[in-house]
Amino acid sequence: MKINNNWILILILVGLTSAIIYKAFDTYQKPRIELPNNTHTAWIAPSLYIDRSLEGEERKLVIYGEELIANTSKYLGPNGSVAHITNGMNCQNCHLNAGKKTWGNNYGAVASTYPKFRDRSGSIESIYKRVSDCMERSLNGVTLDSNTKEMQAMIAYIKWVGHEVQKDSVPKGSGIKPPEYLDRAASPLNGKIVYQNKCQSCHGSDGQGLIAADALSYTYPPLWGKNSYNSGAGLYRLSRLAGYVRDNMPFNQSTHESPALSDEECWDVAAFVNSQPRPTKDLTSDWPNVSKKPVDHPFGPYTDGFNETQHKFGPFKPILEARKKQSNKSKSS
Ligand code: HEC
Ligand code: HEC
Repeated sequence: MKINNNWILILILVGLTSAIIYKAFDTYQKPRIELPNNTHTAWIAPSLYIDRSLEGEERKLVIYGEELIANTSKYLGPNGSVAHITNGMNCQNCHLNAGKKTWGNNYGAVASTYPKFRDRSGSIESIYKRVSDCMERSLNGVTLDSNTKEMQAMIAYIKWVGHEVQKDSVPKGSGIKPPEYLDRAASPLNGKIVYQNKCQSCHGSDGQGLIAADALSYTYPPLWGKNSYNSGAGLYRLSRLAGYVRDNMPFNQSTHESPALSDEECWDVAAFVNSQPRPTKDLTSDWPNVSKKPVDHPFGPYTDGFNETQHKFGPFKPILEARKKQSNKSKSS
């Protein structure tokens, strides 16, 4: 009888131990965090630390591309080591975390959607053309030849950032999403107060930002004046500036999920910033099809009957509605 009891005890012990080992192994195998699926949650950029598929020269080029996007001015700015062709801002000032930040005007949709037709130029644009546009407008400078190492590196990096995104799809959280349109025009006067309370501490009372100690870039980039983006830049459109600010400014305080500013404050501060002086660009060859101008493109002529002031500050809803009617009419006739 004694022996039998011991056997039962041993059997129970063996059973328990195997159950514990099995359970531990099972939990170990399951990923602890559920990785988001691109179709439901916002896009998350790949990481060079994890991605070992890039090797040798290709990897070096992508790393150099990221460096150029993050510290553009160090290479291409007024005191740049490669050329002096831009205004001293970095691509990263507007494409946060080198174009990898979700909702931070990232590059998630570039590899998947370019080359594509764009109404601004009325042509099919390559990634090279799109980067050149930001160099000539946002960085108020001159572009690089497409076969320079710097241009090749930036393009290689941008392609790598979006390499996991399915062709033709635009992941959630890429580019800029404008706040809800207001029922009134955005007010530069209200915006000035928002600026003084929420922006001035970093971007300065004169909007000129703060130059870093090494004089190679900005600690806080300028929002207007001679070193800022020009009148042909994306941010000169109110919806782009308001949307960028909503999800990202004040820096490190706002997120898409919990913005520090109300939608009204975003539109108003954008109206104030874009009423200040800045470099201009000849835009006569932009929007060859005038009817394709976005509602917030502030330069005429237009085919919708609204004037430049309304196209600059809104209200934008009446313009959108008039355009919808116009296109319904042309469809039915
Ligand atoms: C002053 C701000 C600013 C700076 C600086 C800037 N950009 Fe941009 N960029 C924008 C805005 C605004 C857009 C349009 C975003 C939108 O409409 O969703 C844009 C769009 C782009 C796009 C197309 C994105 C897409 O999804 O279609 C690329 C590529 C790009 N920028 C690259 C660059 C590079 C490279 C640099 C530096 C050489 C740079 N940008 C500097 C503001 C900026
Ligand atoms: C705590 C400091 C801080 C505050 C406050 C702040 N910003 Fe910024 N802002 C930054 C920094 C830093 C960057 C550049 C981020 C980078 O390079 O990674 C930036 C970038 C920008 C840019 C894009 C680059 C440019 O210069 O055009 C805009 C536009 C902008 N801020 C607008 C605003 C507005 C509007 C407010 C107020 C609602 C604001 N910021 C408040 C620190 C700040």
